[in-house]
Amino acid sequence: MRSPAARMLHINLFIFGCGHHRGAWRHPQSSVERLGDIRYFEELAQIAERGKLDAVFFADGHAAGDVADSSWWYLEPLTTLVAISRATEKIGLISTVSSTFYTPFHAARLLASLDHISGGRMGWNLVTSMFDTEARNHGYEAMPAHADRYRRAEEFADAVLKLWDSWRDDAILCDRHGQYADPNKVQAINHEGEFFLVDGPLNVPRPVQGNPVLFQAGASEHGVNLAAQCAEAIYAVAYDLPAAQAYYRKVKARVKAAGRNNPVPIMPGLVTYVASTEAEALAKQRELDELLPTASSLKQLGLFIEQDCSEWELDAPVPKLPPLDTFSGPKGRYSTILRIIETEKPTLRQLLGRLAAGGGHCTLVGTPEHIAETMQHWFENAGADGFNLMPPSLPSGIADFVDQVVPELQRRGLFRTEYTGSTLREHLGLERPHPR
Ligand SMILES: Cc1cc2nc3c(=O)[nH]c(=O)nc-3n(C[C@H](O)[C@H](O)[C@H](O)COP(=O)(O)O)c2cc1C
Repeated sequence: MRSPAARMLHINLFIFGCGHHRGAWRHPQSSVERLGDIRYFEELAQIAERGKLDAVFFADGHAAGDVADSSWWYLEPLTTLVAISRATEKIGLISTVSSTFYTPFHAARLLASLDHISGGRMGWNLVTSMFDTEARNHGYEAMPAHADRYRRAEEFADAVLKLWDSWRDDAILCDRHGQYADPNKVQAINHEGEFFLVDGPLNVPRPVQGNPVLFQAGASEHGVNLAAQCAEAIYAVAYDLPAAQAYYRKVKARVKAAGRNNPVPIMPGLVTYVASTEAEALAKQRELDELLPTASSLKQLGLFIEQDCSEWELDAPVPKLPPLDTFSGPKGRYSTILRIIETEKPTLRQLLGRLAAGGGHCTLVGTPEHIAETMQHWFENAGADGFNLMPPSLPSGIADFVDQVVPELQRRGLFRTEYTGSTLREHLGLERPHPR
């Protein structure tokens, strides 16, 4: 057993519709009819809180996807988290906020309000968004160029942080015979930059945590640099331990080079199929894979690998694909596909299933001991400080994890048995920042 002060895993539940497997909503027992029911999301957060997880997390997009595939339908995350904050007590609440589509004042105000409402449990995942369909809902013809989006994101984060610091912690006096707040402690920020003009101060007092915890998930050079400069915790995509270690080393070195001593926990995504035997876990995976509509999955794979695979045999090994350096399309996803084929030697159906559930993220199928062992191995070998759980189906995938894997992690002294703090910062071991 480790000492109570030992480094602990951070575990976060990434909530997404009926689960991260694209076929999950088609399962006869899925909660697909409840995707508009806030109690469904409250229950998911309550299961995560029962497992003492650090936080629940919502991604966000600004365009409707393929409505024939209803897994793309979701409630707006910040409003959803208001409800979840009232249905839970300790667990952290993280929402994505896009620096391309919000203004700093709007984002700072919403997140500060939620930090007060939740008693200091908010985090925000700063993204620059990705798709032209989103841009076209916000007054752009197409997405601004990648480098422009990241320049805006940098200035956006700076302005939001200044707004949160525009009220000193001790500004509010509530002196019934004098002042409500000390005007010397509520100051304009007078921000003037390339993208924004923001006078401030904010019309919400300093958040409970000083700042809601800033997450980032950039993978490009611009993305990693932004994360190194200002992220307090990072989401990552890593297919296996060597990929996780390479990203981990790079980001930690950049954080140091940016002159920061912060711990900046790194949390790769993790897809798990858990059962008391490996055979049962594999059967769970196969059950979901079989729900995928074959024709559209093959069409999507065809787009990723730029060749027609509609006639390929589903239950035979995937035919050999051309090497990465001869491939002219987008290389990120193609290299993941090659890696899955090389290491797992899947049938075509299995490959479609892997891509339909978390794609390039690490996928573990097996017993609680096997999953806990692998998580420990990554944690102790500079691959991860924690994990962003992406259960293939919800709620069963998170209930399985909480009931079976969490006790095993606790037995190994790798995960808390009780919350020791009440804010997300405390769960993550991050200091409350001083006003700048
Ligand atoms: C766990 C995770 C969650 C993400 N959530 C979102 C999201 O909600 N909205 C979004 O537009 N991008 C999201 N992204 C994408 C990243 O913000 C980022 O754009 C991506 O990792 C590519 O990096 P780059 O922009 O530096 O090229 C997410 C990425 C990860 C790993």
